Amino acid sequence: MLVPTLELLETARSGAFAIGAFNIYTLEGVRAVVAAAEAAASPAILQVLPKALELGGSAFITLCRSSAHHATVPMAVQLDHCADPAVIQSALDAGISSVMADGSHLPYAENLAFTRQMTDLAHGAGTMLEAELGRLSGKEDDWEVDAREACLTDPEQAIDFVSRTEADALAVCIGNVHGKYTRPPELDFDRLAAIAQRVSLPLVLHGTSGLPDELVSRSISHGICKFNVNTELRQAAVSAAAAYLGSHEAPELIGLMNAQIEAMQVPIREKLTLFGSVGQAAGGQHPSP
Ligand code: 13P
Repeated sequence: MLVPTLELLETARSGAFAIGAFNIYTLEGVRAVVAAAEAAASPAILQVLPKALELGGSAFITLCRSSAHHATVPMAVQLDHCADPAVIQSALDAGISSVMADGSHLPYAENLAFTRQMTDLAHGAGTMLEAELGRLSGKEDDWEVDAREACLTDPEQAIDFVSRTEADALAVCIGNVHGKYTRPPELDFDRLAAIAQRVSLPLVLHGTSGLPDELVSRSISHGICKFNVNTELRQAAVSAAAAYLGSHEAPELIGLMNAQIEAMQVPIREKLTLFGSVGQAAGGQHPSP
């Protein structure tokens, strides 16, 4: 069933678990997330990056919404990392459940103004807005941030940012990285605790692929209630496609699609277990979004 994103996050927060938001680009990705979430009786979020929207258009949001609506578990559909107001507006017009407006590349005052404007847009459409304070390094599609440009979330600034933007969820930068970790990840839990003490909205961690289980669990106990996962799913799909094509003399498209759906479910299942959301599908009241 399709439910408001904020309801998923609030239910997770009060139950001390977290929601997995899985970035998907294709029908195979959508099927993998829905199948894995249903098998685990877990809520989940289908998450769409602007690059996937560029490829699939608003029809891709319609596919995600309809898949979420027909799922046996609570699901939402979120636009991820978008810096373009026109794309945010078109995603809202297409019925997206929530948006992540990313002004983290802007100087503070401009990030504040941009995020505030996008919050008004999202709220006007009856949806919630996730914002980012600080700047995450790494690579996501054609969005790349060098480690030298990255900066961690300032807990004091977070108070000002959240109250002035009226964002509904905050993505924090505490040493997490998009894409591959080039050295063992280290998360600044003191910083996360300081942020959680100062702001009362749900906190989000990006860059979950490659994070050791122990760091994920500690993040949840420090207040993270949504994790974004992309790279591990893409890698699973690409490796499965290569293996299928390499092992079939007469490959079939359906076989290729099924191989990817199966393969992507492996990291999704692992993450749902790690996030503690398995069996949590019955939580919350789930009014229509
Ligand atoms: P990973 O690709 O590192 O899993 O990060 C995903 C993400 O944060 C999307 O917003």
